[in-house]
Amino acid sequence: MSKIPIIIDCDPGHDDALMLMLAFGSGMFDIRAVTISAGNQTQAKTMNNALKILTLIGATDIPVYHGAEKPLFRDLAVADYAHGETGLDGPSLPTHTMAVQPMRAVEAMAAILVEAGSSITIVPTGPLTNIATLLLAYPHLKSKIERISLMGGGIFRGNMTPLAEFNIYNDPEAAAIVFNAGVPITMCGLDVTHKALVFQKDIELFRSLGNKTGTAAAGMMDFFSIFYRKNMPELDGGAPLHDPCAIAWLMNPGIFKTKSCYVDVETKGELTRGATVVDFYNVLNREPNAVVAFDIDRDEYINMLYNAIKVLP
Ligand code: RIB
Ligand code: CA
Repeated sequence: MSKIPIIIDCDPGHDDALMLMLAFGSGMFDIRAVTISAGNQTQAKTMNNALKILTLIGATDIPVYHGAEKPLFRDLAVADYAHGETGLDGPSLPTHTMAVQPMRAVEAMAAILVEAGSSITIVPTGPLTNIATLLLAYPHLKSKIERISLMGGGIFRGNMTPLAEFNIYNDPEAAAIVFNAGVPITMCGLDVTHKALVFQKDIELFRSLGNKTGTAAAGMMDFFSIFYRKNMPELDGGAPLHDPCAIAWLMNPGIFKTKSCYVDVETKGELTRGATVVDFYNVLNREPNAVVAFDIDRDEYINMLYNAIKVLP
Protein backbone atom coordinates (compact mmCIF):
# COMPACT_ATOMS: atom_id res chain seq x y z
CA MET A 1 0.00 0.00 0.00
CA SER A 2 1.43 3.44 -0.92
CA LYS A 3 2.41 5.69 1.96
CA ILE A 4 0.26 8.68 2.81
CA PRO A 5 2.18 11.94 2.12
CA ILE A 6 1.93 14.21 5.15
CA ILE A 7 3.35 17.33 6.78
CA ILE A 8 3.28 17.31 10.59
CA ASP A 9 2.92 20.62 12.48
CA CYS A 10 3.38 20.17 16.24
CA ASP A 11 4.33 21.72 19.59
CA PRO A 12 6.14 18.93 21.49
CA GLY A 13 4.75 18.32 24.15
CA HIS A 14 4.52 14.80 25.50
CA ASP A 15 1.57 13.74 23.39
CA ASP A 16 3.09 15.38 20.32
CA ALA A 17 6.16 13.23 20.93
CA LEU A 18 4.01 10.10 21.05
CA MET A 19 2.25 11.26 17.87
CA LEU A 20 5.65 11.50 16.13
CA MET A 21 6.51 7.99 17.34
CA LEU A 22 3.22 6.67 15.92
CA ALA A 23 3.67 8.49 12.61
CA PHE A 24 7.25 7.36 12.08
CA GLY A 25 6.93 3.88 13.59
CA SER A 26 3.76 2.96 11.72
CA GLY A 27 5.55 2.95 8.37
CA MET A 28 2.35 4.24 6.77
CA PHE A 29 3.46 7.78 6.06
CA ASP A 30 5.70 9.61 3.62
CA ILE A 31 6.58 12.41 6.04
CA ARG A 32 7.71 15.37 3.97
CA ALA A 33 8.44 17.76 6.85
CA VAL A 34 7.94 18.53 10.52
CA THR A 35 7.06 22.15 11.23
CA ILE A 36 7.01 23.56 14.74
CA SER A 37 4.37 25.65 16.47
CA ALA A 38 4.57 27.49 19.77
CA GLY A 39 2.02 26.14 22.21
CA ASN A 40 2.89 23.72 24.98
CA GLN A 41 6.04 25.79 25.31
CA THR A 42 7.81 28.56 23.40
CA GLN A 43 8.91 27.96 19.82
CA ALA A 44 12.53 27.57 20.96
CA LYS A 45 11.60 24.87 23.46
CA THR A 46 9.16 22.98 21.25
CA MET A 47 11.76 23.02 18.46
CA ASN A 48 14.44 21.68 20.80
CA ASN A 49 12.07 18.95 21.95
CA ALA A 50 11.17 18.00 18.39
CA LEU A 51 14.84 17.65 17.41
CA LYS A 52 15.53 15.48 20.47
CA ILE A 53 12.54 13.24 19.72
CA LEU A 54 13.47 12.85 16.04
CA THR A 55 17.03 12.00 17.08
CA LEU A 56 15.74 9.44 19.60
CA ILE A 57 13.59 7.67 17.00
CA GLY A 58 16.25 7.78 14.31
CA ALA A 59 14.43 10.23 12.04
CA THR A 60 17.31 12.67 11.69
CA ASP A 61 16.89 12.97 7.90
CA ILE A 62 13.50 14.67 8.19
CA PRO A 63 13.56 18.43 7.42
CA VAL A 64 12.39 20.50 10.39
CA TYR A 65 11.25 24.12 10.15
CA HIS A 66 10.68 26.96 12.60
CA GLY A 67 7.08 28.19 12.75
CA ALA A 68 5.40 31.14 14.41
CA GLU A 69 6.70 32.42 17.74
CA LYS A 70 3.18 33.37 18.87
CA PRO A 71 -0.50 33.31 17.86
CA LEU A 72 -1.69 35.65 15.12
CA PHE A 73 -3.10 38.36 17.38
CA ARG A 74 -2.81 37.17 20.96
CA ASP A 75 -0.13 36.39 23.51
CA LEU A 76 1.06 32.80 23.75
CA ALA A 77 -0.29 30.76 26.68
CA VAL A 78 2.13 27.89 27.34
CA ALA A 79 1.12 24.66 29.09
CA ASP A 80 4.03 24.36 31.52
CA TYR A 81 1.54 23.16 34.16
CA ALA A 82 1.11 19.94 32.16
CA HIS A 83 4.31 19.62 30.12
CA GLY A 84 6.84 21.24 32.48
CA GLU A 85 9.44 23.97 32.08
CA THR A 86 11.07 22.31 29.07
CA GLY A 87 7.76 21.33 27.51
CA LEU A 88 8.91 17.70 27.69
CA ASP A 89 9.82 17.19 31.34
CA GLY A 90 10.32 13.66 32.64
CA PRO A 91 12.60 11.29 30.71
CA SER A 92 16.10 12.38 29.73
CA LEU A 93 16.41 12.41 25.95
CA PRO A 94 19.49 12.27 23.75
CA THR A 95 20.99 15.60 22.77
CA HIS A 96 20.28 16.23 19.12
CA THR A 97 22.67 16.75 16.26
CA MET A 98 20.06 17.98 13.78
CA ALA A 99 20.14 21.33 12.02
CA VAL A 100 16.95 23.34 11.58
CA GLN A 101 16.23 24.27 7.97
CA PRO A 102 16.76 28.00 7.23
CA MET A 103 13.41 28.38 5.45
CA ARG A 104 10.43 29.25 7.67
CA ALA A 105 7.63 26.72 8.14
CA VAL A 106 4.96 28.44 6.05
CA GLU A 107 7.24 28.92 3.05
CA ALA A 108 8.45 25.35 3.40
CA MET A 109 4.92 23.98 3.52
CA ALA A 110 4.03 26.02 0.43
CA ALA A 111 7.10 24.78 -1.44
CA ILE A 112 6.27 21.18 -0.58
CA LEU A 113 2.68 21.63 -1.77
CA VAL A 114 3.82 23.26 -5.04
CA GLU A 115 6.35 20.52 -5.80
CA ALA A 116 4.10 17.62 -4.75
CA GLY A 117 2.78 15.46 -7.56
CA SER A 118 -0.30 14.68 -5.49
CA SER A 119 -2.12 16.41 -2.65
CA ILE A 120 -0.64 16.35 0.86
CA THR A 121 -2.35 15.76 4.21
CA ILE A 122 -1.42 18.22 6.98
CA VAL A 123 -1.46 17.00 10.59
CA PRO A 124 -1.45 19.88 13.11
CA THR A 125 -1.34 18.97 16.80
CA GLY A 126 -0.73 22.39 18.31
CA PRO A 127 -2.17 25.87 17.82
CA LEU A 128 -3.12 26.43 14.16
CA THR A 129 -1.08 29.60 13.61
CA ASN A 130 1.22 28.13 10.93
CA ILE A 131 -1.64 26.49 9.05
CA ALA A 132 -3.79 29.63 9.03
CA THR A 133 -0.84 31.67 7.79
CA LEU A 134 -0.27 29.15 4.98
CA LEU A 135 -3.93 29.33 3.95
CA LEU A 136 -3.95 33.15 4.02
CA ALA A 137 -0.65 33.60 2.20
CA TYR A 138 -1.14 30.84 -0.40
CA PRO A 139 -4.90 30.38 -0.95
CA HIS A 140 -4.26 28.90 -4.38
CA LEU A 141 -2.51 25.95 -2.72
CA LYS A 142 -5.66 24.79 -0.88
CA SER A 143 -6.29 22.43 -3.79
CA LYS A 144 -2.97 20.69 -3.00
CA ILE A 145 -4.08 19.94 0.58
CA GLU A 146 -5.78 16.54 0.72
CA ARG A 147 -7.06 17.01 4.28
CA ILE A 148 -6.18 18.62 7.60
CA SER A 149 -6.32 15.98 10.36
CA LEU A 150 -5.98 17.97 13.55
CA MET A 151 -6.05 17.54 17.29
CA GLY A 152 -8.03 20.39 18.78
CA GLY A 153 -11.35 21.63 20.00
CA GLY A 154 -14.21 19.79 21.59
CA ILE A 155 -17.91 19.24 20.96
CA PHE A 156 -19.15 19.68 24.50
CA ARG A 157 -16.03 20.44 26.50
CA GLY A 158 -12.84 22.44 27.01
CA ASN A 159 -9.65 22.22 29.06
CA MET A 160 -8.52 25.86 29.05
CA THR A 161 -12.01 27.20 29.75
CA PRO A 162 -15.18 25.14 30.18
CA LEU A 163 -15.68 25.37 26.42
CA ALA A 164 -12.25 25.95 24.83
CA GLU A 165 -9.50 23.39 24.23
CA PHE A 166 -5.84 24.50 24.53
CA ASN A 167 -4.81 24.47 20.84
CA ILE A 168 -7.86 26.39 19.68
CA TYR A 169 -7.90 28.66 22.75
CA ASN A 170 -4.33 29.75 22.03
CA ASP A 171 -5.11 30.97 18.52
CA PRO A 172 -8.88 31.10 17.90
CA GLU A 173 -8.50 33.43 14.92
CA ALA A 174 -6.17 30.94 13.26
CA ALA A 175 -8.58 28.11 13.99
CA ALA A 176 -11.49 30.07 12.51
CA ILE A 177 -9.47 30.59 9.33
CA VAL A 178 -8.70 26.88 9.12
CA PHE A 179 -12.27 25.68 9.73
CA ASN A 180 -13.63 28.16 7.19
CA ALA A 181 -11.01 27.50 4.51
CA GLY A 182 -13.03 24.90 2.64
CA VAL A 183 -10.32 22.24 3.06
CA PRO A 184 -11.49 18.78 4.30
CA ILE A 185 -10.92 18.55 8.04
CA THR A 186 -10.86 15.76 10.57
CA MET A 187 -11.22 17.13 14.09
CA CYS A 188 -9.97 14.99 16.99
CA GLY A 189 -11.15 17.01 19.94
CA LEU A 190 -11.35 16.38 23.65
CA ASP A 191 -14.52 14.29 23.33
CA VAL A 192 -12.51 11.54 21.67
CA THR A 193 -9.10 12.20 23.21
CA HIS A 194 -10.52 11.90 26.71
CA LYS A 195 -11.44 8.35 25.73
CA ALA A 196 -8.01 7.74 24.17
CA LEU A 197 -6.61 7.09 27.62
CA VAL A 198 -3.37 5.41 28.64
CA PHE A 199 -3.34 3.68 32.04
CA GLN A 200 -0.44 2.55 34.22
CA LYS A 201 -0.78 -1.04 33.00
CA ASP A 202 -0.31 0.19 29.43
CA ILE A 203 2.66 2.34 30.44
CA GLU A 204 4.38 -0.69 31.95
CA LEU A 205 3.78 -2.55 28.68
CA PHE A 206 5.59 0.21 26.75
CA ARG A 207 8.40 0.16 29.32
CA SER A 208 8.71 -3.60 28.93
CA LEU A 209 9.60 -3.17 25.26
CA GLY A 210 13.13 -2.43 26.46
CA ASN A 211 14.08 -0.26 23.47
CA LYS A 212 15.10 3.39 23.91
CA THR A 213 11.90 4.70 22.39
CA GLY A 214 9.68 2.47 24.54
CA THR A 215 11.50 3.52 27.69
CA ALA A 216 11.27 7.21 26.74
CA ALA A 217 7.59 6.85 25.79
CA ALA A 218 6.82 5.26 29.17
CA GLY A 219 8.68 8.06 30.93
CA MET A 220 6.70 10.66 28.97
CA MET A 221 3.42 8.93 29.80
CA ASP A 222 4.41 8.78 33.48
CA PHE A 223 5.06 12.53 33.55
CA PHE A 224 1.98 13.37 31.46
CA SER A 225 -0.19 11.32 33.82
CA ILE A 226 0.75 13.44 36.84
CA PHE A 227 -1.34 16.42 35.73
CA TYR A 228 -4.37 14.35 34.75
CA ARG A 229 -4.39 12.16 37.84
CA LYS A 230 -4.31 15.30 39.98
CA ASN A 231 -6.76 17.46 38.01
CA MET A 232 -9.13 15.07 36.23
CA PRO A 233 -9.91 12.16 38.57
CA GLU A 234 -12.93 11.52 36.32
CA LEU A 235 -10.44 9.94 33.89
CA ASP A 236 -9.90 7.16 36.48
CA GLY A 237 -6.10 7.55 36.48
CA GLY A 238 -5.83 7.57 32.70
CA ALA A 239 -4.00 10.22 30.70
CA PRO A 240 -5.55 11.33 27.39
CA LEU A 241 -3.16 10.75 24.49
CA HIS A 242 -4.55 13.65 22.49
CA ASP A 243 -2.21 14.14 19.55
CA PRO A 244 -1.66 10.60 18.26
CA CYS A 245 -5.41 10.53 17.49
CA ALA A 246 -4.84 12.85 14.50
CA ILE A 247 -2.42 10.29 13.02
CA ALA A 248 -4.38 7.20 14.13
CA TRP A 249 -7.47 8.41 12.25
CA LEU A 250 -5.45 8.52 9.04
CA MET A 251 -4.13 5.02 9.75
CA ASN A 252 -7.48 3.40 10.58
CA PRO A 253 -10.58 5.63 10.72
CA GLY A 254 -12.56 2.50 11.58
CA ILE A 255 -11.40 2.60 15.21
CA PHE A 256 -13.16 5.94 15.64
CA LYS A 257 -16.79 6.98 15.82
CA THR A 258 -17.23 10.20 13.85
CA LYS A 259 -19.93 12.48 12.53
CA SER A 260 -19.74 15.06 9.76
CA CYS A 261 -20.67 18.38 11.32
CA TYR A 262 -20.60 22.10 10.67
CA VAL A 263 -17.94 23.62 12.92
CA ASP A 264 -16.99 27.23 13.50
CA VAL A 265 -14.82 28.90 16.13
CA GLU A 266 -15.80 31.60 18.63
CA THR A 267 -13.19 34.38 18.58
CA LYS A 268 -14.98 37.16 20.46
CA GLY A 269 -16.84 35.74 23.45
CA GLU A 270 -15.61 36.63 26.93
CA LEU A 271 -16.53 33.22 28.32
CA THR A 272 -16.44 31.36 25.01
CA ARG A 273 -13.28 32.53 23.22
CA GLY A 274 -11.67 29.56 21.50
CA ALA A 275 -14.74 27.31 21.64
CA THR A 276 -15.24 25.07 18.63
CA VAL A 277 -18.95 25.44 18.05
CA VAL A 278 -19.86 21.99 16.70
CA ASP A 279 -23.37 21.67 15.29
CA PHE A 280 -23.53 18.00 16.31
CA TYR A 281 -27.31 17.73 15.81
CA ASN A 282 -27.33 19.85 12.63
CA VAL A 283 -29.77 22.37 14.05
CA LEU A 284 -28.39 25.06 11.73
CA ASN A 285 -28.76 22.86 8.69
CA ARG A 286 -25.38 24.08 7.41
CA GLU A 287 -23.08 22.10 5.09
CA PRO A 288 -20.70 20.05 7.29
CA ASN A 289 -17.05 21.16 7.07
CA ALA A 290 -15.44 18.64 9.39
CA VAL A 291 -15.43 14.96 10.28
CA VAL A 292 -15.67 15.15 14.06
CA ALA A 293 -14.44 12.21 16.16
CA PHE A 294 -16.27 11.48 19.40
CA ASP A 295 -15.36 7.90 20.35
CA ILE A 296 -12.48 5.45 19.87
CA ASP A 297 -11.56 1.79 20.34
CA ARG A 298 -9.03 2.52 23.09
CA ASP A 299 -7.48 -0.91 23.18
CA GLU A 300 -6.81 -0.88 19.44
CA TYR A 301 -5.43 2.65 19.69
CA ILE A 302 -2.94 1.63 22.38
CA ASN A 303 -2.09 -1.43 20.31
CA MET A 304 -1.32 0.74 17.27
CA LEU A 305 0.97 2.93 19.35
CA TYR A 306 2.65 -0.11 20.91
CA ASN A 307 3.32 -1.71 17.51
CA ALA A 308 4.75 1.56 16.17
CA ILE A 309 7.07 2.13 19.13
CA LYS A 310 8.18 -1.51 19.10
CA VAL A 311 9.94 -1.08 15.75
CA LEU A 312 11.71 2.17 16.64
CA PRO A 313 15.27 2.27 18.08
O1 RIB B 1 -5.52 20.19 24.59
C1 RIB B 1 -4.56 19.23 24.25
C2 RIB B 1 -3.62 19.76 23.22
O2 RIB B 1 -2.89 20.85 23.77
C3 RIB B 1 -2.55 18.74 22.80
O3 RIB B 1 -2.16 18.99 21.48
C4 RIB B 1 -1.41 19.03 23.72
O4 RIB B 1 -0.14 18.67 23.16
C5 RIB B 1 -1.50 20.52 23.83
O5 RIB B 1 -0.85 21.08 22.70
CA1 CA C 1 0.19 19.34 20.94
